[in-house]
Amino acid sequence: MLPPQLSAFLLLALPSAVRAVFQDEVGHIDYHYELLGVPQRETTFFHRPRRDDKASLLYTLSDVGVLGAVHPKNGAVLWRQLLNGTVTDGGGFLRAGEGENWVASALGKSVHAWDAVSGRNKFWTDYAGDVLDLEIMEMTENDRKDILTLFEEDGSTVLRRLSGDDGLVVWEFSESTNDIPLQVSTNVEKVFVISLHGRTSAYNLKVTVLDPVTGKRLDELLIGTKSDVHSKEDVMFVGANSAAPIVAWKSASLDKLRVNVLGTKTRQEFPLEADTVSVEIHAPHLVQSEPHFLVHSKTATGNRADVYHVDLKTNAITKAYDLPHQAGPGAFSTSSVNANVYFTRVTDDEVVLLSSASHGVLGRWPLHVGGPKTSVIHGVSEVVKTGDNYAVRSAVVTNRDDWVLVRLNDRAVDVAWTRPEGMSGAVAATFAEIPESEELAKTLDQEAHSNPLEAYIHRVKRHLNDLQYLPEYLNSIPSRLTSSILGTEVSAKDGKPSRDSFGFHKLVILATRRGMLYGLDIGNKGRILWAQKAFEIAKGDKWNVTGIQVHESTGQVTILGSSNDRVILRTDTGEIIDAKAPESQVSTQSAALADTPSGQHLLPVGLNGKIGDLPSDSAPKQTVVVRSADGGLQGVTFVADGDVSNELVSWTFSLPKGQRSASIATRAAHDAIASIGRVLGDRGVKYKYLNPNTLVLAAADDDASILTVYLVDTVSGQILSSSKYEGVDAAKPIECAMAENWFVCSFFGQYSLGGNLAQTLKGYQIVVSDLYESEESNDRGPLGDAPFFSSVDPIDLPTGVALPSVVSQTYILGAPISALQITQTRQGISSRQVLAYLPETHGIVGLPRMLLEPRRPVGRDPTAAETEEGLLRYHPVIEVDPKSVVSHERDVLGVKKIITSPAVVESTSLVFAYGVDVFGTRVAPSFLFDILGKGFNKVTLIGTVVGILGGLLFWGRWFGGSRLIRGGRQRCEIGDDDAVCLLFIFYLCT
Ligand SMILES: *[C@@H]1O[C@H](CO)[C@@H](O)[C@H](O)[C@H]1NC(C)=O
Ligand SMILES: *[C@@H]1O[C@H](CO)[C@@H](O)[C@H](O)[C@H]1NC(C)=O
Repeated sequence: MLPPQLSAFLLLALPSAVRAVFQDEVGHIDYHYELLGVPQRETTFFHRPRRDDKASLLYTLSDVGVLGAVHPKNGAVLWRQLLNGTVTDGGGFLRAGEGENWVASALGKSVHAWDAVSGRNKFWTDYAGDVLDLEIMEMTENDRKDILTLFEEDGSTVLRRLSGDDGLVVWEFSESTNDIPLQVSTNVEKVFVISLHGRTSAYNLKVTVLDPVTGKRLDELLIGTKSDVHSKEDVMFVGANSAAPIVAWKSASLDKLRVNVLGTKTRQEFPLEADTVSVEIHAPHLVQSEPHFLVHSKTATGNRADVYHVDLKTNAITKAYDLPHQAGPGAFSTSSVNANVYFTRVTDDEVVLLSSASHGVLGRWPLHVGGPKTSVIHGVSEVVKTGDNYAVRSAVVTNRDDWVLVRLNDRAVDVAWTRPEGMSGAVAATFAEIPESEELAKTLDQEAHSNPLEAYIHRVKRHLNDLQYLPEYLNSIPSRLTSSILGTEVSAKDGKPSRDSFGFHKLVILATRRGMLYGLDIGNKGRILWAQKAFEIAKGDKWNVTGIQVHESTGQVTILGSSNDRVILRTDTGEIIDAKAPESQVSTQSAALADTPSGQHLLPVGLNGKIGDLPSDSAPKQTVVVRSADGGLQGVTFVADGDVSNELVSWTFSLPKGQRSASIATRAAHDAIASIGRVLGDRGVKYKYLNPNTLVLAAADDDASILTVYLVDTVSGQILSSSKYEGVDAAKPIECAMAENWFVCSFFGQYSLGGNLAQTLKGYQIVVSDLYESEESNDRGPLGDAPFFSSVDPIDLPTGVALPSVVSQTYILGAPISALQITQTRQGISSRQVLAYLPETHGIVGLPRMLLEPRRPVGRDPTAAETEEGLLRYHPVIEVDPKSVVSHERDVLGVKKIITSPAVVESTSLVFAYGVDVFGTRVAPSFLFDILGKGFNKVTLIGTVVGILGGLLFWGRWFGGSRLIRGGRQRCEIGDDDAVCLLFIFYLCT
């Protein structure tokens, strides 16, 4: 029994514990992969951002156009910049001057420099032409490191020397010829511009020699390569700012490597192994390094390397040693420490460190990077020598698009971190339920297909059989209880994801343009369950996913591509069940999800909008809308003719001349509607126009700057409504989204404020349109209460087809938005949010539908009835409220698309965004009315209950005790039921 003081203390102590803070739910309900993209070989390196600091960082400009710095210790991102503002297709340049605290980059037409530690922009200059190359001048007349940039501007070759301090042009060299500029290189004394000279398909190499101080032309050398060089790609290597920069190319017969030391006229030849398929050359980037280089030649089965030395006096190249042929692609990287040059070779099962000077192995570490079927494609290394020992850090890119840091020294040989960079550049994603066990799925299927009595008996038997799991379930109660109270996750059995009663635990299947597929367990902070290579996509090519569909009953997902390719795999393991690789020709424009007699299927739609005749059991039951050859729309139906269904174009919608389709939106496949009308403040009802067969088409006229938004009936092809917006910049993103009886479109266009039409402004706007059956309340329009309606056979009324009454309103946004999507909940009772990406602030915003309400009273305060309905006074500008940013303070880069899915609980919609980064969260547009939040303090609640009970017990005994003294009766008022009561309260609380 508690002493009275303690009991009182317990009761007094409770209020302070009740003062619980509502914890921010960041990191609990959301997950975020901060990605860079797959690092490119030429634009990745280790660099010391502070001259006197030993620590170096890893820098990369990736294949999606993200420039960033990563901590080599733990793989954490220090800073990132999405250079183009959107995902790009690789290319670009990145260099750092030795000992400098900045890095210089170039992409497209711009050149930039960044503070190496903070990632702050030092300068950013846009030029007229594309940047073809960028190099650092390591030694200049004024001890400042400058930047050499090569451009092609209006057909002329332009080389600019930019000041490393502010990016201003020190000198400019320009030449108008028909030559194709390739690269720039420098060796302290001279600057070399290398171009292809000659006519199409047979070029000589032209080396223009310039003075580094003035930019004046000193010399021009022609190197005969006509029979060998037919395109830019044939010149494999130019340069690096070494003491003796070289240019190399393969002979036409592919059996020789020809090398020229820049500034000389001679070319030297070295044999290549007969079956060589590709050659890479690795050389240091520093003038003080030994002029050594390594030729890495790959054959179909393996790779080998030869190391060469250049004599600085005579410019003669001699072979120093070679490394034998080994299986796998292998990866080499160069590191220089003062004059010493090191080569690191990473193969499938070991890492070898060599000096460029001689063939002696300095270090050899057995290491297998990644799992089976993983090999290293390329990498960069950093070598540190302490005494006689070498320590190596290599950041390597694998064929499964991971970026892996391996750490090798006399103490450790391990993988320090792995970044799943392959998840960037995602092109399609879908939610999937966690598959039930196969047996259960089978039994349920069996029950569904047998007669009711048999099914019932089967079901009872199954439930009896399930009883064997009861002890296990009872056993798990204590751990579930504690995890529920403490708010920890119940760790899934044997690491497998399992469903939860809220419906938050699902899978996301993500497909990337590089042909990788990922399965994420979103109930477990987006953990990667599996990664699978669907197809080998050639470098520079893209996987064009046209459709992705999950079959929940079988736990499989089908993904169709544009080149007649297909992959079917299991959602929970990523095991490929069927795959057909892309053909060389693009053959489909899209894939349509169609209801057929044999279930839902993805149907590939041909480039001209043709689907082709289909077997009757897989022909769609509904009209399929396709893009016609002229850019308009077409409705396609199927007419059964025996076993075959013939394709029939039922309607065509051609866009007026000059217009092009900019965005198309339809209602989601799952678009639950809780009520068919809206109750107004005056108790009237406005009936929603809920035609499931509608789509929104936004068509832009670039010349006239006009955007026309059409609402099209997909069964009849009829235009239900259209609206025009003038002064629209069609080059800026135009996007629409649709749900229930309304749609939104966002674009950049002109508007006038306050009815002053003379003064027009331009800005980003969002137009929201509601569709009702009639303009009047309590009126169901021409359709009345008819249970059915037909789009094709209009009802017999003078007005013809039942057209919706449209109410629209325009709102002005302070910043552009993209990737529009509307939340989905299970029953559609919760209000909606329009989710959108904010490309300028890198966040995802949820705009409440209540704000985007077209019926908000304009120019006056709402009446009492309107207030009751929840209408606010119209205000043209929608400011993005930080509270409505669902990604909170996270920096989500390059979102291309957002997808949503309902949870089991009505309040919540699951959200997943992809593009560069991968981000997911849950939103509750009408707040969490059906679950207790994380901030709900169960510990306090239970503590309070226990405390009160304890107090009651105590006082009961106390008074019971006194009674005992007085009445001589020995009885406690509160009995053994307490335990039961306590358990019941526990049950309620958890
Ligand atoms: C991004 O790239 C596109 C295509 O190359 C180009 O038109 C656009 O100007 C670039 N944007 C920026 C900000 O560099
Ligand atoms: C993707 O589409 C592009 C352009 O249409 C095409 O060149 C490319 O071959 C396609 N890639 C694949 C893998 O189908």
